[in-house]
Amino acid sequence: MPEDHFGEPVAETYDEYSAEMFRPEVVDPVVDFLAGLAGDGAALELGIGTGRIALPLAARGVRVQGIDLSEAMVTRLRAKPGGADVPVTIGDFATTKVAGTFSLAYLVFNTISNLTTQDEQVACFENVAAHLEPGGCFVIEVGVPDLQRLPRGERFVMFHVGDTHVGIDEYDVARQGLVSHHLQQTEGDAFRRSSGPFRYVWPSELDLMARIAGMTLRERWAGWKREPFTSESTKHVSVWEKA
Ligand SMILES: C[S@@+](CC[C@H](N)C(=O)[O-])C[C@H]1O[C@@H](n2cnc3c(N)ncnc32)[C@H](O)[C@@H]1O
Repeated sequence: MPEDHFGEPVAETYDEYSAEMFRPEVVDPVVDFLAGLAGDGAALELGIGTGRIALPLAARGVRVQGIDLSEAMVTRLRAKPGGADVPVTIGDFATTKVAGTFSLAYLVFNTISNLTTQDEQVACFENVAAHLEPGGCFVIEVGVPDLQRLPRGERFVMFHVGDTHVGIDEYDVARQGLVSHHLQQTEGDAFRRSSGPFRYVWPSELDLMARIAGMTLRERWAGWKREPFTSESTKHVSVWEKA
């Protein structure tokens, strides 16, 4: 089982520190997009967390199930209105099997990068394909690797500087690895440091993983409102379809 980087200390402040991502302006387009793809079928969220997307999607009438490694995150989900009605399996979403088949599986908020090896990311696509009905879709939301901001010989890129939070990405280009360091203000002038490992992954590489798993690219956008994906896009929302 991979290491759980979303244990109690992260889970207890996740919703508060990610408050921007819980705003209706952010969540509603995601839910519109996913509900449209799910149709009358069921949806599987990999890395369901505290239910930021799963709960409003379920409130739209979509039957949602989840997989997550972190008991602490899922405890928060279950405590929310409607949370106890969303079935969640504790396990690694690269390998964990759940009962049923799905018209939609989705992995949002850069969570594919939580799998820190290429083998695990490929296994994730294969696991999703095993759960999808023919014609079912797999959706990933993830940043485009920000290497254009990294001068040769440098390792660190600041991705956020605010009054209460500073974020710094540390690159290991040879391994396609990334550690995100966060300095978050807690009380008074005190800042807490936390760091988490990722594997950044290219859109074309994800397309190959999909092909290995028997899926093909159906749509690629720069955002949930189907903004065009261009050379300037900083993230993408991609949809692969199972043959
Ligand atoms: C950034 S949070 C996203 C949570 C939620 N999807 C959201 O959008 O707010 C990533 C979630 O994925 C879970 N996670 C990370 N790696 C995982 C793995 N290999 N298997 C299962 N869950 C994993 C974490 O426990 C955490 O709940």
